[in-house]
Amino acid sequence: MKIPLSKPWITEEDIKAVQEVLKSPYLSLGPKVEEFEQLIADISGRKFAVAVNSGTSALHLIIRSLGIKEGDEVITTPFSFIASSNCILFERAKPVFVDIRKGTYNIDSDLIEEEITEKTKAILSVDVFGQPADYDEIESIAKRHNLLLIEDSCEALGSEYKHKKAGSFGVAGAFAFYPNKQITTGEGGVIVTDNEEIYKLSRSMRNQGRGEGNEWLFHTRLGYNYRISDINCALGISQLGRFDEIIGKRNNVATIYTKRLSEISEVVVPYVSPDTTKMSWFVYVIRLNDSFDERKRDIIIDKLGKRGIETRNYFEAIHLQPFYVEQFGFKKGDFPITEFVSERTIALPFYTTMPEEEIDYVVNNLKEVILEVKKL
Ligand SMILES: Cc1ncc(COP(=O)(O)O)c(C=O)c1O
Repeated sequence: MKIPLSKPWITEEDIKAVQEVLKSPYLSLGPKVEEFEQLIADISGRKFAVAVNSGTSALHLIIRSLGIKEGDEVITTPFSFIASSNCILFERAKPVFVDIRKGTYNIDSDLIEEEITEKTKAILSVDVFGQPADYDEIESIAKRHNLLLIEDSCEALGSEYKHKKAGSFGVAGAFAFYPNKQITTGEGGVIVTDNEEIYKLSRSMRNQGRGEGNEWLFHTRLGYNYRISDINCALGISQLGRFDEIIGKRNNVATIYTKRLSEISEVVVPYVSPDTTKMSWFVYVIRLNDSFDERKRDIIIDKLGKRGIETRNYFEAIHLQPFYVEQFGFKKGDFPITEFVSERTIALPFYTTMPEEEIDYVVNNLKEVILEVKKL
């Protein structure tokens, strides 16, 4: 058997939806972008949505719209995909990392206040693996210190924290739609906000800084080409037509995994907080128990690969990436929980239509490989 880490679920209907756009005159800047935006605004409980070509672009436009700049600091997590921190660097501001909780792997809100200085402008929290961060606490810290809150919900479309939707916390949120996500547009992202100013600035900056109603060659401000095409959005709209089914199927896969894995005492299964009243699973990430180290984890990943099972070491700590070490002088030991977790985590194959026999195949092989590696 060959089992990929992830796989998009593309139906005949999805293909038809894309073909319809290809037959129309509107491959870009057409009606599908706005239709997709409206659907995402509704799913995230926001007034406005601006679709762009990636989650990274969405985060960048949020940072720029808020005027975060050189000399400013933004508090965020080192246990994330690198874009959540790079978007701060794009504007020459400084990411200030705060370690994570060992259960949810989200930023530890108890440690945030120690890192606030007069330069701190914002908190950028990440809903890691689909699980919303601890927003009651984070929102009240932001309020107390007059900080902006940005939600990187790129991995969490459809999740809820205490019955409130992911993407609806703080001044703006971002979603992403790469093919490994819950729904895909091929490549794509969306900014969601209730703030009209952010909405207008993001719309302008995604399209070369043109203002509303500007001529094509009139540019009000510095902008980018972060536009997303109608082809991409038509795929997204079609996928959203079965969004509940997608979340349900992913939830089933996660439930079966958790049940089967409970037999393996060396494995810590994902923890879902009771505050996560709805979990929209992005990936299924296990952790090896404390008796394993990074070397053994990597051997397990390698051995599973040789058995046709693709897994990955989600996430590598951001502060230990070479250019962060070079620019900021971070070193091992700076964020111990992040490092402990990132040395032991393994993302297992996980996708919407994953059949039970594949889950069994992964779990059985994992069990065997763990026993082999344990002795090394
Ligand atoms: C937490 C997080 N932030 C940002 C991004 C960036 O999204 P994209 O890959 O669409 O640029 C991702 C995507 O993987 C992500 O997981």
